Amino acid sequence: MRILRVHTAEEFAGAAADLVAGQLQVKPRSVFALPTGNTPLALYEELVRRSRLGRLSLADARIFNLDEYRGLAPTDPHSYAAFLQRHLIMPLALDQERVRLLGGDATDPLVECRDYDAALTAAGGIDLCILGLGANGHIAFNEPGSAWDEHTHVVQLTQSTRTRHANETAGRWQVPTQGLTLGIASILAARQTLLLIAGAHKEAAKAALHRGVEDREWPVTSLLRAPNVTVIELSEPAQAP
Ligand code: GLP
Repeated sequence: MRILRVHTAEEFAGAAADLVAGQLQVKPRSVFALPTGNTPLALYEELVRRSRLGRLSLADARIFNLDEYRGLAPTDPHSYAAFLQRHLIMPLALDQERVRLLGGDATDPLVECRDYDAALTAAGGIDLCILGLGANGHIAFNEPGSAWDEHTHVVQLTQSTRTRHANETAGRWQVPTQGLTLGIASILAARQTLLLIAGAHKEAAKAALHRGVEDREWPVTSLLRAPNVTVIELSEPAQAP
């Protein structure tokens, strides 16, 4: 596991975009699994900027997402599908044929999870899985205590995750109780993983990862088993004495 520590949002986005660009250079048709949340926003902006300058292209890549709220249609503005469309897919005008996002509103979510796994397999598996980190150590929607041998599946969201997302909308939105998510086995099968960590409220989860001991209560520690992981951490510069 390679850990890069940076102190500004620009360095954070730049280092993450460099890693994406490196992956695209090796394999323009790479398969990406992409996160939602505040953390990857600066990366997406940087990818759009570099793409407009002709410095990289995601046009031949295949795009999947990590997770979705159960019950939300991709057109629902609160859905993770809509988030990724808004911040990356539409600004880059990517071909929707090359995009497969989890359908939170599927009539049978279990069938949707199996179809999603099949689509990932048909695409050749994930080349680069980019992850954010939940304050409770979750990756995608794999909450503390999750099994580590599951592929895409339906999960019960913890109260802490739901409260955090409710707070972001100042309580105006009723956060669903369940989600669909890539499982930890799906994440560990990625050929390369990029974990992005930003935010002071992530200290406990970050410390669990730094301890270097696998712990089911901290799903992020499953990445200790992954083959090729880069962690980029944004931390405030130390205060002058
Ligand atoms: C959600 C998502 C995760 C994401 C996490 C962190 O719970 N399911 O995939 O990593 O939020 O979000 P943020 O980057 O906003 O801190």
